[in-house]
Amino acid sequence: MADEVKRGLEGVVAATTKLSFIDGAAGILEYCGYNITDIARFATFEEVMYLLWYGRLPTQKELRAFSQKIRRERTIDSSVIRILQTCAKHIDAMDALRTAVSYLAQCDPDLSNNSAEANIRKGIRLAAKFPTIVAAFYRVKQGKKVIAPMLNLSSGANFLYMLRGTIPNEVEANAMETDFILTAEHELNASTFTTRVTVSTLSDLHSAICSGISTLKGPLHGGARAEVYKMLDKIQKPERAEAFIQRALKQGQKIMGFGHRVYKTYDPRAILFKETALALANFKKDKKWYMIATKVEDVVIKELVEKLGKPIYPNVDFYTGPVYKYLDIPSELTTAIFALGRIAGWVAHALEQYADNRLIRPNALYIGPHNLKYVPLEQR
Ligand code: ACO
Repeated sequence: MADEVKRGLEGVVAATTKLSFIDGAAGILEYCGYNITDIARFATFEEVMYLLWYGRLPTQKELRAFSQKIRRERTIDSSVIRILQTCAKHIDAMDALRTAVSYLAQCDPDLSNNSAEANIRKGIRLAAKFPTIVAAFYRVKQGKKVIAPMLNLSSGANFLYMLRGTIPNEVEANAMETDFILTAEHELNASTFTTRVTVSTLSDLHSAICSGISTLKGPLHGGARAEVYKMLDKIQKPERAEAFIQRALKQGQKIMGFGHRVYKTYDPRAILFKETALALANFKKDKKWYMIATKVEDVVIKELVEKLGKPIYPNVDFYTGPVYKYLDIPSELTTAIFALGRIAGWVAHALEQYADNRLIRPNALYIGPHNLKYVPLEQR
């Protein structure tokens, strides 16, 4: 009987989707039929959102109109900033984001309207405000003045601008934009699955997005990025990477940023993040973080893949480590940045789930005792 339980739901097909296709053995990822490498090289994040929410690439005119709508929604109200100022300073940016989304729900004129049109309007508002919220929370925490968004900048450039107060150069802006694109969508990953479960009860989009944020936060999902970042900090020099990883493996530790439930070869997004890290390293004329990361990759491949035959390759999170180092992004923001991209996929899956809904409610195999005699409280 216990064999019937697929631990971690591994291999269980729980939904149909037109949003992304993954071939984990071949290392292929497509968004709505388009290869992720083409998407990352040629599309903008706004274009990717359009593709995922409408199921096709926009024309120039459609994209212009869509971008305009999104950019106009970037600004957050002073009441949201006050909420962020009230948040305890020790909390994670993900907690602040979840709190802000809960608050934004009550301000949304479409809150309980679950039609596709209303959900796209709500998706636009949320996706546009996510970077503003994360950057504002970070600056509030630092005791700095909150910076209003610039509407003529791309999503990636604007986010870096709101963090730093200066307009980033093209290489940095492209790196941030690529990050959002590469994390936008990934089939039934844990946070998207939770989002769909919430939608399946016919709850509202804001509640579903809160579920997604809460699930993404964990270290086995989006939280792995922060762990990769901390690992690079601990290693500090390329020549120390081998001993560090050997020691961690001997102690039975998992190496963060490696392994994946679906990919049993290189995650194509890891390859693209690696290219992004190299572009930044060359631009900054500082190869240190890139070299540490490539050394870690070599050792993990040698020890786990070549010696033990385990298919443990870099996943999407691994090369975000050097990318964020070069972008001067602190580790505490790394998971929240994941959410800035993934909101695109969460909204897309919510739209799919609402359009063809059935309550998601699996079973559990009971393994506890039966027929116990109830002992009154005073006799225990
Ligand atoms: N380092 C070392 N060994 C690993 C790693 C790793 N990163 N990942 C898996 N393994 C080993 C396990 O120890 C296990 O070995 P065993 O069979 O000898 O016991 C085997 O590979 C299978 O691992 P599971 O944890 O059972 O695989 P699962 O599919 O449940 O987990 C997961 C996938 C959670 C991603 C896992 O690889 C992991 O914990 N990686 C590190 C965290 C991480 O990077 N998470 C981000 C994932 S991508 C994302 O969410 C965006």
